Amino acid sequence: MTYDAVVVGGGLAGMLTAFELRPLKVALVSYRSLGELTSSAWAQGGIAAAVGDDDSPSLHTADTVEAGAGLVERRVAARLTADAPNAIERIASLGVRFDREGEDSHYALGREAAHSRRRILRAGGDATGAELVRALVEAVHGAAWIEPLEGARALDALLDAEGRIAGVLVRRADGSLERLSTRALVLATGGIGGLYEFTTNPRASVGAGIAIAARAGAKLEDLEFVQFHPTALDVPIDPLPLLTEALRGEGARLVDERGARIMEGVHPALELAPRDVVARRVFAVRAAGGRVFLDARALRDELPEHFPTVFAACALHGLDPRVDLIPVVAAAHYHMGGIAIDLDGKTTVPGLYACGEVAATGVHGANRLASNSLLESVVYPERIASDVRAYLPGVPPPVDLGAEPADARPYAPAYPAEWKALRREMYAGVGVERDEARLTHALDTFRAIAETNPSEELRDAATTAALVANAALRRRETRGSHLRVDFPETAGTPGHSFSTLDDLVDLPA
Ligand code: SIN
Repeated sequence: MTYDAVVVGGGLAGMLTAFELRPLKVALVSYRSLGELTSSAWAQGGIAAAVGDDDSPSLHTADTVEAGAGLVERRVAARLTADAPNAIERIASLGVRFDREGEDSHYALGREAAHSRRRILRAGGDATGAELVRALVEAVHGAAWIEPLEGARALDALLDAEGRIAGVLVRRADGSLERLSTRALVLATGGIGGLYEFTTNPRASVGAGIAIAARAGAKLEDLEFVQFHPTALDVPIDPLPLLTEALRGEGARLVDERGARIMEGVHPALELAPRDVVARRVFAVRAAGGRVFLDARALRDELPEHFPTVFAACALHGLDPRVDLIPVVAAAHYHMGGIAIDLDGKTTVPGLYACGEVAATGVHGANRLASNSLLESVVYPERIASDVRAYLPGVPPPVDLGAEPADARPYAPAYPAEWKALRREMYAGVGVERDEARLTHALDTFRAIAETNPSEELRDAATTAALVANAALRRRETRGSHLRVDFPETAGTPGHSFSTLDDLVDLPA
């Protein structure tokens, strides 16, 4: 099959990019039904945008830069925050029903950690992601130029003799392999939280896009920066339900088993300190044998109405946040690093673009400011679409790529022992606290898994895990979410890290 563009990923970034590409003929490849089991659909926080009377894009930029521990690209953040209000109007016009209040029905704005203003737009209280995805699924299904290929998994980018994108190899739901011919490929495959034993992300978020881009020769950036969320519900299920930071924004506190506030004496902003600071503290208290709880009892009657997702998740585990303390654990939540892109979403491979969590835009630095990520996913699609439209006339049209390749690799969607080992090793070795010994052990484990001729999904997971561990090993300092206990100081001059697959010379392809 031949398309003008192929977008991989059924979350917000993928669906909106496919939508913005009109009138080009677009295939939208998604392993599950559109929107299903994506981080976008699970997002509780919201979208940050300076739309309040007391706010401005420059204040939003300043908060973003401050949170990112020296690695935020100010000019990129400034463009993002300036574009935010228009992007909000654009998706509202697609049918997204944001929460509103007051006689003039203005946007209801929430507060989250390290934001100096109320600027978080939500929908359905803590069900923002679900509402965004609902509206986008509807929009995509009504878009004649998009052909959704649900149940298909992208395996590899195909390049022409000049190193430009020529297509993408996918495995269809029936197990067959197919080459989709295209000159523009957009990876919007989400993050890497599923690589971790404890995560708030869907288990399928295992960094496939990073592995695909790496094999195509793309440059990767800041892979070592993984954000841990301080308040995942500590219950024995996988993945862990998130207790949104907005609860702390509205006054919930973090306490130990004696009821003492664990953030006292740690940071002047207490529970609203930057997320890396809070996550580290939660991790440290638990590592010392203590337990940590979120005390949201003061919010009492607000809870069922404004936090229905949290309320339901607690109820499922026999907890009522109006009266109970809620046990929490720090869990992998967001990947700041990813495939390096420019302001138009372009990677270093001609015709290859990345959007959403899989991309490294330079906005999140070493520690993402909450709710800036959904913002990226609604701002970049339009930029990517206009760049694709400008790029295509200058390259030969897509050609028939010939017979389908032989099916060499076994298809194994199950979660065998290697998956457990990989996920345990990511949390233990490439987790909140890192050091050379743990990182080296983790890297050796990922290499060993890659040598077992694993399934396609596990191969990509092992490749991405090894790239992340290797980047973490090479950053010999502590910065933002990257805590090296053997290098506790922050280096004087901040610098991005760049990787390619060549950094893992002996990893089997
Ligand atoms: C949250 O609701 O706490 C998460 C928001 C985010 O990660 O942006």
